[in-house]
Amino acid sequence: MAKFHSFSFPYLCLAFLVCFILIHASPAAIDEPTGLVDKVCNQTSNYTFCVEALYSDRRTPDADSYTLAFIAFGVAYANANSARDYIAELLKNTSGQDYHSRLEICGHDYLRAVSKLEEAYNDLNSETFFGLAKLAGVASKASDHCQDAFRGISSPPLGSRNGDLKRLCEIGAVIAKLFTGSS
Ligand SMILES: *[C@@H]1O[C@H](CO)[C@@H](O)[C@H](O)[C@H]1NC(C)=O
Ligand SMILES: *[C@@H]1O[C@H](CO)[C@@H](O)[C@H](O)[C@H]1NC(C)=O
Ligand SMILES: *[C@@H]1O[C@H](CO)[C@@H](O)[C@H](O)[C@H]1NC(C)=O
Repeated sequence: MAKFHSFSFPYLCLAFLVCFILIHASPAAIDEPTGLVDKVCNQTSNYTFCVEALYSDRRTPDADSYTLAFIAFGVAYANANSARDYIAELLKNTSGQDYHSRLEICGHDYLRAVSKLEEAYNDLNSETFFGLAKLAGVASKASDHCQDAFRGISSPPLGSRNGDLKRLCEIGAVIAKLFTGSS
């Protein structure tokens, strides 16, 4: 009996250690998306992307739909703004005429996206919800337009940025519909 105990105690320790490692090594710190996040992300084209994007903000675990709208449009805005800065950098560095003019198209697209997302943010601030989905749609179209501008180019300079903005806008549009009731 004593032998059994002296064997089982380290065994138990090891079991706990393994559990501890498994829990703490699991990807990201997203324990379990909230019901609201689950509901929103389930209506988007990429659930994982949606959950990761929303959980990039530490308010998400406690967010109601209003706060979640701020988070979604905030992330989309930050993304578009950073892409716009990046395009401006690329424009400075690029000498090829064809490439330059494609980049300029994207520069305009992202300018439009940033301004629409800014408008959405202001709408949220004044609790004006009816235009949100449309603004997200316009910003999303801007990313499509930029993507088209580099059609046929083997390694488009914006990489995944267009796709990211498109999906972020999609999240914003889904949340916007929580307020306007259409779905
Ligand atoms: C998620 O979406 C699927 C279909 O798109 C639907 O059948 C399911 O009920 C949804 N689940 C939740 C929790 O909303
Ligand atoms: C969905 O998003 C995740 C996380 O960003 C990404 O790893 C995955 O490739 C995406 N899936 C599709 C089908 O685009
Ligand atoms: C632009 O060129 C500078 C100097 O060559 C370089 O440091 C910078 O990383 C480049 N920017 C981009 C976005 O390629």
